[in-house]
Amino acid sequence: MKGIILAGGAGTRLYPATLTVSKQLMAVYDKPMIYYPLSVLMQAGIKEILIISTPQDLPNFMRLFGDGSQIGVRFEYAEQAAPNGLAEAFIIGDKFIGNDSVAMILGDNIFYSAGLEQLLETATKTKKGGHIFAVHVTDPERFGVVEFTKKGKVVSIEEKPEKPKSSYAVPGLYFYGPEVVKEAKKLKPSKRGELEITDLNKVFLKRGELTVTVLPRGLAWLDTGTHAAMNRAGNYVQIMQEMTDYNIACIEEIAYRKGWIGEKELKATIEKMGKSSYADYLRIVEKEVEGEG
Ligand code: G1P
Repeated sequence: MKGIILAGGAGTRLYPATLTVSKQLMAVYDKPMIYYPLSVLMQAGIKEILIISTPQDLPNFMRLFGDGSQIGVRFEYAEQAAPNGLAEAFIIGDKFIGNDSVAMILGDNIFYSAGLEQLLETATKTKKGGHIFAVHVTDPERFGVVEFTKKGKVVSIEEKPEKPKSSYAVPGLYFYGPEVVKEAKKLKPSKRGELEITDLNKVFLKRGELTVTVLPRGLAWLDTGTHAAMNRAGNYVQIMQEMTDYNIACIEEIAYRKGWIGEKELKATIEKMGKSSYADYLRIVEKEVEGEG
């Protein structure tokens, strides 16, 4: 399975903070925002990842991650010339996806839960159709909204409805079979002029090929849409990291524990991270894994 991180958009809701910096490169506590969605793809076992961003911001992502060998993955990069919608990512990623299944995560979506890998296990086996998620929220009108019958069957999906039919929002993490590229190419722009991922999901729903998994209560889906939400997300990460002794979205730790990189690569990152607490944490990981080995 291939992975796409879509990190486009102008981030106007966070101006002036995002006037010259991509939203997805802003720090959420101790690391750039994109580390969090990247860590989700890595936990899902995905090692071939396409990063899509604006022509202005793409060079910064390339500077941040390079070819990915430092974390044992392979990155490709592509531009989204204009904010034409989430579903356009599959058209941009046509060649990259090839005949594989694909997971897409939005560059500003932060998920955190113990046991996330097990939660994603079924979705990562998607060969055909789509597998998406639903999260209970208080402000569903801001998102794609799923309506269920009492028995849990999906009835409808609507994009930012004025009168939401449920409190279940669709978070920015989607799994599809390879035919998603062909289906994305058939979409027409919505009223807001975008190729909507919700329209894509409706196609699969109509065919009876859409699985929707409701995420459990213990899972945190952190909002980064406003200045206050950004601050809260940062505080959440700090508190969780200090209280559990484990870092969230430490991509080198994930790679090292999975055996995707060795001590040489880990040491090189530690060196690069200078006097930061991030480097201190990686030193602890190195010792801990050595002890287990
Ligand atoms: C997009 C999708 C929406 C989804 C949301 C998740 O919204 O269109 O269906 O619920 O991402 O973050 P947008 O970022 O365009 O507001």
